[in-house]
Amino acid sequence: MDNPSFEFGMIGLGVMGRNLLLNMADHGFATIGFDKDAAKCTLLESSASPNTKVKGAATLKEMVQQLKKPRKLMMLVPAGPIVDSVINDLLPLLETGDIIIDGGNSFYKDTLRRITFLQEKKLHFIGMGVSGGEEGARKGPSIMPGGDLEAWQNLKPILEAISAKVPAADGKKEEPCVAYMGKAAAGHYVKMVHNGIEYAIMQLISEVYSILKNVVGLNNDELHTVFKKWNEGEMQSFLIEITKDILLQKDDLTNNSLVDMILDKAGSKGTGKWTSQEAMDLPIPLPTIDMAVAMRDMSVYKEDRTTAAALYKPKIKVYTGDKEKLIQQLHDALYCATILSYAQGLAMLHKASATLGMDIPLQDVVRIWRGGCIIRSSLLETFTSAFKKDKNLSNMLLNKKVAAIIKKKQSALRRVVQISANAKVPVAGLMSALSYFDSFTTEKMPTNLIQAQRDYFGAHTYQRTDKEGSFHTDWNR
Ligand code: 6PG
Repeated sequence: MDNPSFEFGMIGLGVMGRNLLLNMADHGFATIGFDKDAAKCTLLESSASPNTKVKGAATLKEMVQQLKKPRKLMMLVPAGPIVDSVINDLLPLLETGDIIIDGGNSFYKDTLRRITFLQEKKLHFIGMGVSGGEEGARKGPSIMPGGDLEAWQNLKPILEAISAKVPAADGKKEEPCVAYMGKAAAGHYVKMVHNGIEYAIMQLISEVYSILKNVVGLNNDELHTVFKKWNEGEMQSFLIEITKDILLQKDDLTNNSLVDMILDKAGSKGTGKWTSQEAMDLPIPLPTIDMAVAMRDMSVYKEDRTTAAALYKPKIKVYTGDKEKLIQQLHDALYCATILSYAQGLAMLHKASATLGMDIPLQDVVRIWRGGCIIRSSLLETFTSAFKKDKNLSNMLLNKKVAAIIKKKQSALRRVVQISANAKVPVAGLMSALSYFDSFTTEKMPTNLIQAQRDYFGAHTYQRTDKEGSFHTDWNR
């Protein structure tokens, strides 16, 4: 066997694994990959750019043997038991100090378990979120590693080279969209919340699309023009950008717009649901993310919805007022609700950082989300300056600059919610964002009554506004 000459190994050569390896190779790293499907190894080699060193290994053993020590290996395999099974296959092949990276969307509690397991075997383990889809993996993703600091230092040059780049704060240099996300399973935790925010923003965009289409009455070309214009202004973002492209795509089979031929049942792989579940455990309120998960679930009940539609016959009211004005209000409402969605996710990270002892650097989270990832948007610049001012900001809505934007736009969100309710168009995401804002900015919530009820039927006690302590009343029964 030749001297080990490869710097990075990948297990799982699906499109993400292959593209990440090719990206590394383009940056001068000698890379080797393995997949049980030999055709994927061949495809890896044939896709390599000229003058790069890329190899597909026939076996896991062959790949491991050709890696320089300490070996750096990433798994990009489906989250769940397959990750454990790959780790078990690797164990007899590795040596003390080698580094295993899980770059998939693993559940962070699985990552915690794997960290402990691999620490006992004297192996480094990094749970790492990678965002940006196929294109991001090839051209520059946003990368969220967490856990083992020594391993991170070792991986830093490669990860910085392959990540997306954004202009640095001083506007001169560019900086990489990768940073250490905190202790233990912080990498996967941050990626989970990234996806929760992704779910919320996608839900909001779909609602605004629905109002523009059904209430304002725009066709797909007009919708494209609206989203294109929005993407050129303060609402510039990856998700708005792809939405404008989607609206122009024709269907090969029918020549209709493809979007109109797609069944309205949403899939999901679970990261949004985990965000909601984990938020409830912390606890921290995330109503817009919860609602985004719920609406994907609702979409699956197509048959019941069809029956109910025939039973209740909801008739959408087309808007008869000033349509241009409504389109501007929709822009502002979406902008406002998008900020409220980020605020919910970031507040969750703030709480989790302390409660779960992960020390998540929020200023770095928003900084590396500025490029490469699915939720990249010009808003991330605003959030980056907010965390620069106060790295312990518990809620983005408490930042003065953000407050100024929300103060200006919230009336549009309120108006759009009214119009949609009136027109019978479901906008659960927009409504929940507005309710989040209204409750977060309410000094006195009606929860005093809930406390009274709890004490009435269950002697659960309550606190008073004028004295310390907990109290129980023998209510007049
Ligand atoms: C990303 C995406 C990516 C993936 C999601 C889709 O950041 O690149 O979030 O991780 O597309 O897993 O999730 P759903 O299938 O749950 O929508």
